[in-house]
Amino acid sequence: MRLLSGHARLAGVLGWPISHSRSPRLHGYWLDSLGIDGAYLPLPVHPDRFEEGVRGLVALGFRGANVTIPHKQAAFAVCDVVDATAKRAGAVNTLVFRDGRIEGSNTDGFGFLENVRNAVPGWQASAGPAVLLGAGGAARAIAAALLDAGCPWLVLVNRSRDKAEALARDLGGPVRVAEAPPLAEAALLVNTTSLGMRGHPSLAIDLAPLPPGAVVADIVYVPLETPLLAAARARGLRAVDGLGMLLHQARPGFEAWFGTAPTVDAALREAVAGDI
Ligand code: ATR
Repeated sequence: MRLLSGHARLAGVLGWPISHSRSPRLHGYWLDSLGIDGAYLPLPVHPDRFEEGVRGLVALGFRGANVTIPHKQAAFAVCDVVDATAKRAGAVNTLVFRDGRIEGSNTDGFGFLENVRNAVPGWQASAGPAVLLGAGGAARAIAAALLDAGCPWLVLVNRSRDKAEALARDLGGPVRVAEAPPLAEAALLVNTTSLGMRGHPSLAIDLAPLPPGAVVADIVYVPLETPLLAAARARGLRAVDGLGMLLHQARPGFEAWFGTAPTVDAALREAVAGDI
């Protein structure tokens, strides 16, 4: 048990509900292993009181906070300044309180890219087209990050086609919407839906048309090995699970609040995922 001084740096995660979030465990692991005088708390706040909650954290001297479902759009609105990625995604997942201002960024896309880069050495977004399943908040952040990183074109496939079309319009650039995933052309296939999550239906998709060098990534991490990833591995394709995205998206916030750049390794994965 870490003892906190009167100068302890404070941060946390705002969500509703928040009890399932693994972020306190993740940041707590880094705080413990780096011996930092600081704390990272689960912060449940009702959507009606989100802004009040954020202003309360500022008043209490918090360094900042992560923001999760359902507050990412509200967080965007509360910021005095947001970075380009957050602007493109229209959503903020990391708040930093600095110099009397609320600064917002969106590190979900960064977390996604860093996860794939670490899991598949040598992988580059520019290597080929990507097919994204889903058009929600996660798809928004991942699509923006892929385009920023040089992905030549993207195809969005979503149950509600109008949502995919709205996302394609917002993103601009080489993005199209399709009814069926054009797998034969894909260098990267990403599931950003909740399909495959424990307790949800699994994703019904035949991976046979994917080229042999394709990478298949899932943002679902409960279970770690989703039916989609198992099917990819069975075909000899490279499969990337969703836990790493959670771990990597947390790095920029931790560094801003606590002053030390943390690392993602096998021990951290085990600490965060132990009981998945
Ligand atoms: P997140 O912020 O995690 O992306 P979200 O914004 O609720 O969550 O988006 C969930 C995505 O999963 C959406 O693309 C949703 O499709 P719709 O836009 O049609 O709602 C997709 N999704 C969820 N359940 C689904 C299901 N049973 N079948 C197909 N797609 C599903």
